[in-house]
Amino acid sequence: MAATTFEFPTPYPKQAHTLKCNAHQLVYGGARGGAKSFCAMFKIVQHEQLYGQNGKVLVLRRYYKDLQDFILLCRRYLSKLGWAYRSGEKDFTAPSGFLVRFRILENEQDAEKYQGHEYTLIIVEEAGQYPKPEPIDLLNGAMRSAEGVPAQIFMTANPGGVGNDWLRERFVEPAPDGFTMIPVEGTKIRRYYVPARIQDNPKLLDNDPEYVDRLKLSGPPHLVRAWLSGDWFAAPSGDVFRLEWFSKYYDPEYMPKFRAIIQSWDTAFKKGIKNDRSACTTWGVTKNEIYLIHAWAGRVEFPALKKQVELLYNKFMPSMVLIEDKASGQSLHQEMKANTIIPIKPVKVDGDKLARAYSITPLFETGIIFLPNSGDAEWLYDFSSELCSFPKAKFDDYVDSTSQALDYIRRLQKNMARLERKVVPFTGSVWGV
Ligand SMILES: Nc1ncnc2c1ncn2[C@@H]1O[C@H](COP(=O)(O)OP(=O)(O)O)[C@@H](O)[C@H]1O
Ligand SMILES: [Mg+2]
Repeated sequence: MAATTFEFPTPYPKQAHTLKCNAHQLVYGGARGGAKSFCAMFKIVQHEQLYGQNGKVLVLRRYYKDLQDFILLCRRYLSKLGWAYRSGEKDFTAPSGFLVRFRILENEQDAEKYQGHEYTLIIVEEAGQYPKPEPIDLLNGAMRSAEGVPAQIFMTANPGGVGNDWLRERFVEPAPDGFTMIPVEGTKIRRYYVPARIQDNPKLLDNDPEYVDRLKLSGPPHLVRAWLSGDWFAAPSGDVFRLEWFSKYYDPEYMPKFRAIIQSWDTAFKKGIKNDRSACTTWGVTKNEIYLIHAWAGRVEFPALKKQVELLYNKFMPSMVLIEDKASGQSLHQEMKANTIIPIKPVKVDGDKLARAYSITPLFETGIIFLPNSGDAEWLYDFSSELCSFPKAKFDDYVDSTSQALDYIRRLQKNMARLERKVVPFTGSVWGV
């Protein structure tokens, strides 16, 4: 029988970059399946190669069962390098004398236990499971090396968990695209964030083509978005809208007969400028319920915006197209009035964005606002994550467009007959504009 040779996996390019980084606190964070845990395993091997018996590693997870998973991964590969695992002690020793301990860190009390220890590398798998950074911060007291081994805390993390906000604040917001040293004020400590993407893991995508689709079915839209794209801004951190308020509809082909369809535009047309998007939401109104049937947002210049208004009008034939009556909305309104038959209504806005948003939340709370089921509509991720993160989200034009639409619908619901449609809308699918 031919002997099977074992090939130790080689790091992917982003893993290799992460391995080279010598920041004191390093987060390899982002998409689920982005090859982060494997990178943590490589980190251990690399640390042994560089420092031999002068290196000492502590691997931590918040919960025991999850720690077992990482131990299994390490056993599969490190044992091939001749490292010995002791299950009673939960540690590995390499032939060089290098030691790796696996332990639980659940809270600050646990962190106290490590105060007298000396580690040169601490790995926290899934740091996003910690609601506060304190247990991890306390570990700084357990890092030292008399032999001059540079100490590092290496964390893997997915966005969307209970630790989303502190990780984002420390590692993502100072340099959102990552790959940048972030000095910690008043210290010599530097932080660094490497964004992990599913595309970084070609093997996973090749061997498991349905992986992404399964993820899509496994959670609410904002979480799915956070997991797929590694987006630290997708998780709801706002306190105005709540995900559980949205009712769901399941089949876009069988919508109720709408008494009216209302489209609502929040416009801006300076192409390419940050935070300057136009957004349009399209709502179907029944006697007692309101359905979001489409949402679009994009950064476009005036001619493209006009085309988009026409396109979305022709697609849904709304009874009314609301356009916010501000500078950019006014010129659009004038143009459309002169050149098309689109029923446009300029809407004066009063109060600030937050006040307007708060004024429509009672509609959501009563469960009469329906959104498509998770995974059915491309735009749903954007829409629901923006609403749930408002007012902390990067964008708020869906919120503006929604406040404007629902405020109008609420006022008109009393004399809905004015808007009653003679024609039943939708002969085809509503998706895909
Ligand atoms: N460098 C690599 N070489 C081969 N396979 C890899 C490599 N990195 C990751 N993988 C594969 O991808 C899978 C998912 O990676 P993992 O590190 O567990 O993702 P994450 O922790 O980001 O969710 C692993 O189980 C492994 O099969
Ligand atoms: Mg992992």
